[in-house]
Amino acid sequence: MIFTRKLLTIISAILVASIAANLATPKYTSSLFSSDPNPRNSFLLEFPIVMDLIHWFRLYQHQRDPAEVQKSSICDYFPPNIPPPETDTITTSCVDLNGCCNFTTVQAAIDAVGNSSQKRTIIWINSGIYYEKVVIPRTKPNITFQGQGYVSTAIVWNDTANSSHGTFYSGSVQVFSNNFVARNISFMNVAPIPGPGANGGQAVAIRIAGDQAAFFGCGFFGAQDTLHDDRGRHYFKDCYIQGSIDFIFGHARSLYENCQLISMANPVAPGQKLINGAVTAHGRLSKDENTGFSFVNSSIGGTGRIWLGRAWRPFSRVVFALTSMTDIIAPEGWNDLNDPERDSNIFYGEYNCTGAGSNMTLRVPYVQRLNDTQAAPFLNTSFIDGDQWLLQVS
Ligand SMILES: *[C@@H]1O[C@H](CO)[C@@H](O)[C@H](O)[C@H]1NC(C)=O
Ligand SMILES: *[C@@H]1O[C@H](CO)[C@@H](O)[C@H](O)[C@H]1NC(C)=O
Ligand SMILES: *[C@@H]1O[C@H](CO)[C@@H](O)[C@H](O)[C@H]1NC(C)=O
Ligand SMILES: *[C@@H]1O[C@H](CO)[C@@H](O)[C@H](O)[C@H]1NC(C)=O
Ligand SMILES: *[C@@H]1O[C@H](CO)[C@@H](O)[C@H](O)[C@H]1NC(C)=O
Ligand SMILES: *[C@@H]1O[C@H](CO)[C@@H](O)[C@H](O)[C@H]1NC(C)=O
Ligand SMILES: *[C@@H]1O[C@H](CO)[C@@H](O)[C@H](O)[C@H]1NC(C)=O
Ligand SMILES: *[C@@H]1O[C@H](CO)[C@@H](O)[C@H](O)[C@H]1NC(C)=O
Ligand SMILES: *[C@@H]1O[C@H](CO)[C@@H](O)[C@H](O)[C@H]1NC(C)=O
Ligand SMILES: *[C@@H]1O[C@H](CO)[C@@H](O)[C@H](O)[C@H]1NC(C)=O
Ligand SMILES: *[C@@H]1O[C@H](CO)[C@@H](O)[C@H](O)[C@H]1NC(C)=O
Repeated sequence: MIFTRKLLTIISAILVASIAANLATPKYTSSLFSSDPNPRNSFLLEFPIVMDLIHWFRLYQHQRDPAEVQKSSICDYFPPNIPPPETDTITTSCVDLNGCCNFTTVQAAIDAVGNSSQKRTIIWINSGIYYEKVVIPRTKPNITFQGQGYVSTAIVWNDTANSSHGTFYSGSVQVFSNNFVARNISFMNVAPIPGPGANGGQAVAIRIAGDQAAFFGCGFFGAQDTLHDDRGRHYFKDCYIQGSIDFIFGHARSLYENCQLISMANPVAPGQKLINGAVTAHGRLSKDENTGFSFVNSSIGGTGRIWLGRAWRPFSRVVFALTSMTDIIAPEGWNDLNDPERDSNIFYGEYNCTGAGSNMTLRVPYVQRLNDTQAAPFLNTSFIDGDQWLLQVS
C-alpha cells in the first residue's frame, strides 16, 4: 500500500466532515465533491464516490494487523476511560472504526449483548462512519447508542425497497427491541434519490419497531421514507430529520420536541402548482388506536413544496404545535390520498404555529385549528406516557 496510515486518518476525517457537512446543511451548497447549486446533488449524487472511498478505506483497515494498530499512533488520541466502568445497573462497551477499543462494528457490539438483559447496555460509538446494516433483535431491550455528535458519528447503509424485499426492511438500522435510546448519532440511508414517479426507491434510515424508544440530539438522513416511526411510544428531542416524500411515517405514538425537519424535495418554481413531498404519513387504522405524531416547538424548512401530512391510513393523526414553517408548505397543508371518505376520520391539527407556511386561510377543510384545550394532550411527554418510562432514560 502506498498510503500511509497518517494519510488514511486524514482521508477518514475529511470524509466524515464532508458527508456530515453536506447532510447537515442540505440547503447550503458547499461540498468537497461538487459545486452543483442544487443541494440534493451536492449531497446524494456524490455518495457513490464517497462510498467507494469508504469501502476501500475499510477494506484496508481490515487488512491491518490488530496488534500493530494497538501500538500505533492512530489510537494515541483515543479518549482515556472509554468505555466507562460498569455499574450495578449499566453495562458498557465501545465501538471504534480503527480498532482502538472493544469492537469495530456496531453490530458486533450488539451481538455481544446478552438476551433479555434488564441492565442498560451503553454502546459508546466513536466518531466515524459505520458503513453497515444494523439490526437490534426483539430479544435485546435496554440498549443505548452513545455517539459523539450527529454530524460526526453515523451509521450508514443504502438499501432500498427494491433491494430489501420492501420498504419496511430497507432501514440502515432496524430496532425491534424495547427501551432503545440513542444520543448524538446519525442514521443515514444514502441510496440514490428515486426520480419522480419511480417505484421501489424508498430508502429508510431507521425503523423503530420497539416500545419506549428515545432519541436525543440525533440525525436522520434520507429522501423518501427516511424515518420509519413504526410502532410503540417514542420520544425525539433536539433532532435533525431530513427527507422528501413521507419522510416521517408509521403508526407509532411519538412526540417530537425542538426538532428541525428539513425537506429535500426538488425546488418548485413560483407559480407552479406541483407538490412533491410530505413531512408525515401517519398510519392510524382505527379510532380506537391511540397513535399519532405530535410536533412541538419544531421547525420546518428546506426545499420543495410539501404537505404537512398525507393520510397513509384512514384515521391518520398528526399535530403541529408551536412550530415554525417556511413557505415550502403547500397552502392547503394536508392531503387525504384522494379518498374523501377519510376526511371525517382524519385528525390533523395545527396550534400556534408561525412563519409563512403556517397561514391556515387556504387549508383543507378537515384540518382543525386547535384551541388550548384541544392542543393540551399533545404538548408534553404525557402524550407518550413519559412518566412511565422516559424519566429512566432522560
Ligand atoms: C471492552 O473493553 C474493556 C477494556 O479493555 C473490557 O474491560 C471489557 O470487558 C470489554 N467489553 C466487552 C463487552 O468486550
Ligand atoms: C437469544 O434469543 C434468540 C431468539 O430467541 C436465540 O436465537 C439466541 O440463541 C439467543 N441467544 C443467546 C445467547 O441465548
Ligand atoms: C449500495 O452501494 C453499493 C456500493 O456502492 C452498490 O454496489 C449497491 O448497488 C448499492 N445499493 C443500492 C440499492 O443502491
Ligand atoms: C429493560 O427493558 C425492560 C423490557 O423492555 C423494561 O421493562 C425495563 O424497564 C428496562 N430496564 C431499564 C434499566 O431500562
Ligand atoms: C451531545 O452533543 C451536544 C452538542 O455537541 C453536547 O452538548 C451534549 O453534551 C452531548 N450529549 C450527550 C449525551 O452526548
Ligand atoms: C425497482 O424495481 C422495479 C421492477 O424491477 C423497477 O421498475 C424500478 O425501476 C426499480 N426502482 C429503482 C429505484 O431502482
Ligand atoms: C424550542 O426549541 C429551541 C430550538 O430547538 C430551543 O432552543 C428552545 O429552548 C425550545 N423551547 C422550549 C420551550 O423548549
Ligand atoms: C397559543 O395562542 C393563544 C392565542 O394567541 C394564546 O392564548 C396561548 O397562550 C398560546 N399558547 C401557547 C402555549 O403559547
Ligand atoms: C394568509 O393567506 C391569505 C390567502 O392567501 C392572505 O390573504 C393573507 O394575507 C395571509 N395572511 C398572512 C398573515 O400572511
Ligand atoms: C375548544 O374546542 C372544543 C371543540 O370545538 C370546544 O368544545 C371547547 O369549548 C373549546 N375550548 C375553548 C377553551 O375554547
Ligand atoms: C402535560 O400537560 C397536561 C395537560 O396540560 C398536564 O395535565 C400534565 O401534568 C402535563 N405533564 C407533564 C409531564 O408536564
